[in-house]
Amino acid sequence: MSLSEKFAYQALESRTKALATALGFRDQSTLEHSARVQTMAIELAKVAGLTECEISALRISSKFHDIGKIGIPDRILMKPGPLDKEDWEVMYRHPVIGEEIVLSTELDGASQTAHIIRHHHEHYNGQGYPDKISGESIPVGARIISIVDSYDAMAYTRAYHKGRNHRTIIDMIEMESGTKHDPLLVKHFCRIIEASTNRVE
Ligand SMILES: [Fe+2]
Repeated sequence: MSLSEKFAYQALESRTKALATALGFRDQSTLEHSARVQTMAIELAKVAGLTECEISALRISSKFHDIGKIGIPDRILMKPGPLDKEDWEVMYRHPVIGEEIVLSTELDGASQTAHIIRHHHEHYNGQGYPDKISGESIPVGARIISIVDSYDAMAYTRAYHKGRNHRTIIDMIEMESGTKHDPLLVKHFCRIIEASTNRVE
């Protein structure tokens, strides 16, 4: 990675930090979740052989993958129970809102970062959202976030479910290998999570 690319990503990271702080004031649990997702995403990216540039874009997009939730109304974001179909239609917009927010910085590296954010809920089999793209068409950073985001979401108690244990989560991720998740990345993840500080009991 060139020095100018390095500086560009540093500038982008500090610019987006203020937004994450703002989101944290609104929804503290999303902020904590995002920090854990960032750590695991980088651990996975390193064993999966991503380039330095790809890791720089992933460092930012993993931390801010849910920044678009800033545009989701409180009655849905803070709902103390399961979301209904209409709520989900609104919630489905957060990757696109996130993409727009990061693009609006107009900094170098913003488009690569925003592209990952847009696609972090796509599924390997094309059944995700917002664009229903599949396989290798999904940016590798987005495929990584999908796995680590699933792990962390299942590990911690949310409005609609209680936190699950490590074994149960791994079984579910392996069950979704090839449908929701990239099979090769799942293999790498199952290996590295054992030594990760974010592994739950
Ligand atoms: Fe998300």
